[in-house]
Amino acid sequence: MPAISCSAPGKVILCGEHAVVYGRPAIALPVFSVKSTCRIIAQPNLAGDSVSIEAPNINLKTNLLKLEMTHPIRQTVEQVLGYFNMERLPNCSILIHSSIPPAAGLGSSASSTIAMIRAISTFLGHPLDISETNRIAFEIEKIHHGAPSGIDNTVIAYGKPLFFRKQEPFELLKILTPFTIVITDTGIKSSTAKVVSELKNKWKRSTRKYESFFDQIEAITIKIKHCLNSGEYTHFGNLLNQNQEILRDMGVSCQKLDDLVKCALEFGAIGAKLSGGGQGGNMITLVEPQLADTLATRLSAAGAARTLIMTISPESGDCV
Ligand code: PMV
Repeated sequence: MPAISCSAPGKVILCGEHAVVYGRPAIALPVFSVKSTCRIIAQPNLAGDSVSIEAPNINLKTNLLKLEMTHPIRQTVEQVLGYFNMERLPNCSILIHSSIPPAAGLGSSASSTIAMIRAISTFLGHPLDISETNRIAFEIEKIHHGAPSGIDNTVIAYGKPLFFRKQEPFELLKILTPFTIVITDTGIKSSTAKVVSELKNKWKRSTRKYESFFDQIEAITIKIKHCLNSGEYTHFGNLLNQNQEILRDMGVSCQKLDDLVKCALEFGAIGAKLSGGGQGGNMITLVEPQLADTLATRLSAAGAARTLIMTISPESGDCV
């Protein structure tokens, strides 16, 4: 049997992160210039139960059965097998590779999981549909992140820009005018689970204050959705800046994110904010397309670990 190879993109959150955990909406975009790939090769000639797993990004090389049952990779296999009422995988080797930096807010865990679900179900002869893939990926995201909203797995599984609210049907976004963002990695690894749980403690102590932050973010996210429809990108940029100020007041930014945001705005960007869990990870900057390369160089000189330029095209809603 030839090797099976399936992949999944990364993602960025445009606005609404953290508030989305508390039932407010958020907007996310798939990022196709980074991806995770899962390759499976059947090994019918090996004796006994032999499913080897290799994931060089996390320094993992082992037999599947040696992984704890609660390990996200083991659970991904178990959940797919469970869907098909199967006990075990036919002997094979599984290689998972990702060009998405971990703990950077680009959805590395959800992307690897979705690439795996796609590859395993294809290997078993029944590729799962998007909705089932997304359901299983959400279960695995809970192992990675505790109490995730589900936005990462959803935007990666569907591969389209979307307006997402927890436990409600999401909306695919219509983008009428192209826009360009520079995604900038601070180089600071940050655990989303940790930031989310610290925020939860603050919310418990000062519920009214944090609910008011989330309400303000909700209003911004709804306005940004309208801007994406209307192409009013100056207003869009201002709204991103307002979202960043609230995230900073909530304590989920950090000095390097603030410095890079400042650098982008001084350069003349339309708007800039952190993206994802914060306290490190990535930021996004809305910029005139012709200035994106120069801005990326400027941000690298200011200490960014890496930059990605992405244009969201109106025709398909795809991100290139
Ligand atoms: O996985 P990250 O770092 O992009 O963050 C996800 C966004 C949060 O709103 C902070 C958490 C969540 O589950 O939605």
